[in-house]
Amino acid sequence: MKTMAFGRLASLISIALAATQITNAALTKRVTCASGHVTANAACCKLFPIVDQIQKDLFDGGECGEEAHSALRLSFHDAIGFSIHGGKGNGADGSILIFNKTELAFHANGGIDDITSRQFPVFQETGLTAGDFVHLAAAIGTANCPGAPRLQFMFGRPPPVAPAPDLTVPEPTDSVTAILARFADAGFSPQEAVALLSSHTIAAADVVDPTIPGTPFDSTVGTFDTQVFLEVLLKGKLFPGNGSQPGEVLSPLAGEMRLQSDFAISQDSRTACFWQEMINNQNFMMSQFKAAMAKLQVLGQRNLIDCSDVVPVPKTLTAPIKFPASFSQADVQQACKALPFPKIATVAGPAPTVAPV
Ligand code: HEM
Repeated sequence: MKTMAFGRLASLISIALAATQITNAALTKRVTCASGHVTANAACCKLFPIVDQIQKDLFDGGECGEEAHSALRLSFHDAIGFSIHGGKGNGADGSILIFNKTELAFHANGGIDDITSRQFPVFQETGLTAGDFVHLAAAIGTANCPGAPRLQFMFGRPPPVAPAPDLTVPEPTDSVTAILARFADAGFSPQEAVALLSSHTIAAADVVDPTIPGTPFDSTVGTFDTQVFLEVLLKGKLFPGNGSQPGEVLSPLAGEMRLQSDFAISQDSRTACFWQEMINNQNFMMSQFKAAMAKLQVLGQRNLIDCSDVVPVPKTLTAPIKFPASFSQADVQQACKALPFPKIATVAGPAPTVAPV
């Protein structure tokens, strides 16, 4: 009796397992494009040559350079023109590219003009809508940076109908309360806001201090690591350029810029532990950033097709991050009291000067 019951149970389990496999197969059904690429949906096939074109014409053949950094910043400034309560723009619609005369006049969009003028002719060659172009370019540019997660790309945004209004993009002079309120208004929690700030690991400032364009926010601006979360906590001692500028606070390293907003968020009780948790936690940072970007890049959009498999696969980083030479735990302004600080080694040698990008 017992054996029979067990036999019946086993066959029931194998039927159930087979059913799950059939469902999985249906969910992961793939299409092979004429080009030989394999993708989830035939509508994505036309994007593969466009990805190659964007790499060639916009990102110098696949570099994590200034255009890649700025393409990511552009996707934020485009998408954040949105409120869950309505009345603040249509989100990730590409309005910043089409209505650039209006949106680039906003103070928070300082320095964005370079990337919109670099992107515009490439956008026109591709025939994509501006929203699809801006958010595909951001996913590709980010993928060029070692350590980045492979961002999602959703396809099929309609052309933008109007510019976003002013005052949707946070400024480095804003208080943490104002910044978190703006993120909340667009649908993001404080933790998601911190996750999005992982982007500042591949960032440099051109206009905060115009005497030193291309001044990075961390000492590893070409890699998507967690270094920025560590370096923002180090005791500040200098201004890298022409003294103190609005939105800038003391930085720990020659040639490095620290934004007032990044520092304030790293120290605020609402965000300090989220900030600290990112440090040397590469996989955690990647998954948090990926999830928050997936939300950001479709704000205000619907009925999109998942074409994520057109996005290049980024190189991985495995080495732990380090304190820049001459720095140690003693230099950390730890604001999160609830969690132990991760153990981090120090690069050998004298304190570096961070080179501009
Ligand atoms: C509290 C919110 C934020 C503030 C106040 C802020 C502010 C800034 C400022 C002032 C710059 C330098 C601009 C310049 O002088 O050229 C910058 C650069 C940058 N930001 Fe943010 N940002 C915020 C959030 C974000 C988010 C959410 C993203 C992307 C998801 C992002 C991506 C970038 C990138 C990639 C750069 C570098 C651009 C380049 O190197 O060309 N930022 N940000």
